[in-house]
Amino acid sequence: MALALARAGWQVAVHYRDSRDQAMQTVASCAELSGDSAAFDADFFDEESVRSLVPRVVERFGRIDAVVNNASLFEHDDAQSFSYVALEAHLRSNTGAPILLSQALHAHVQERVVAGEESAQGAVVNVLDQKLWNQNPDFLSYTLSKAALEAANTMLALALAPSVRVVGVAPGLTLTSHMLSQEKFEALHAMSPLGRSSSSEDIAAAVCFALENRSMTGTTMLVDGGQHLQRFERDFSMM
Ligand SMILES: NC(=O)c1ccc[n+]([C@@H]2O[C@H](COP(=O)([O-])OP(=O)(O)OC[C@H]3O[C@@H](n4cnc5c(N)ncnc54)[C@H](OP(=O)(O)O)[C@@H]3O)[C@@H](O)[C@H]2O)c1
Repeated sequence: MALALARAGWQVAVHYRDSRDQAMQTVASCAELSGDSAAFDADFFDEESVRSLVPRVVERFGRIDAVVNNASLFEHDDAQSFSYVALEAHLRSNTGAPILLSQALHAHVQERVVAGEESAQGAVVNVLDQKLWNQNPDFLSYTLSKAALEAANTMLALALAPSVRVVGVAPGLTLTSHMLSQEKFEALHAMSPLGRSSSSEDIAAAVCFALENRSMTGTTMLVDGGQHLQRFERDFSMM
């Protein structure tokens, strides 16, 4: 996403928590593509850390036009293992942080409008998940946190208009993880009406489109090869 946005001319502020080296590599590539980029750390479990992020970006770049809420906690629990600890961790990272970042972007754009930049408009992309439209019992807290973010997508679109647009992008199975072998991943990726789920490039293209289309708000693009149309009894990592 960062590289696709830089290729489209955006100066990208790259957020990381633990993956500093990867963030710095991404910054170097983005800077080559669009002239400038910088990395910022923040732990989204911690409210003060989230609140510090937009001001630090504005201090470094002078302004901010968009936020892509992609960072996400994805830890397994289900109806048997559910706990307040798991729910709170997912809600803080996956729901609370995107809302706080949208709130901060809105305040920043409002300040610019008051300062005379009448056409200033911000945009938020919330990265969701096709599993919201195709639920199974796995990853209960994660799914609840993304369902809450999907509801916030609508509520924020109404509350922050006209200065900030809010758009959801819901991937299907896109990247593999330690829970899936490459062979299994490829087989599952092919299980969709289109015979393929989403690629990173598909998701990045949808994010670029959402950020650049000034008429979109309060809606979600499902970019998943149609996986949400098919019934899966378990999460892909459990199949
Ligand atoms: N992968 C898929 O196939 C798939 C499918 C559907 C939807 N999605 C959605 O697409 C997005 C990206 O997926 P992904 O697989 O790339 O995610 P991921 O690898 O599980 O996590 C992405 C990053 O989120 C950051 N993060 C997690 N908890 C954080 C916290 N408390 N504070 C700050 N950063 C935190 C981590 O950054 P650090 O490494 O720097 O700590 C992590 O590398 C997510 O929103 C996910 O729900 C993915």
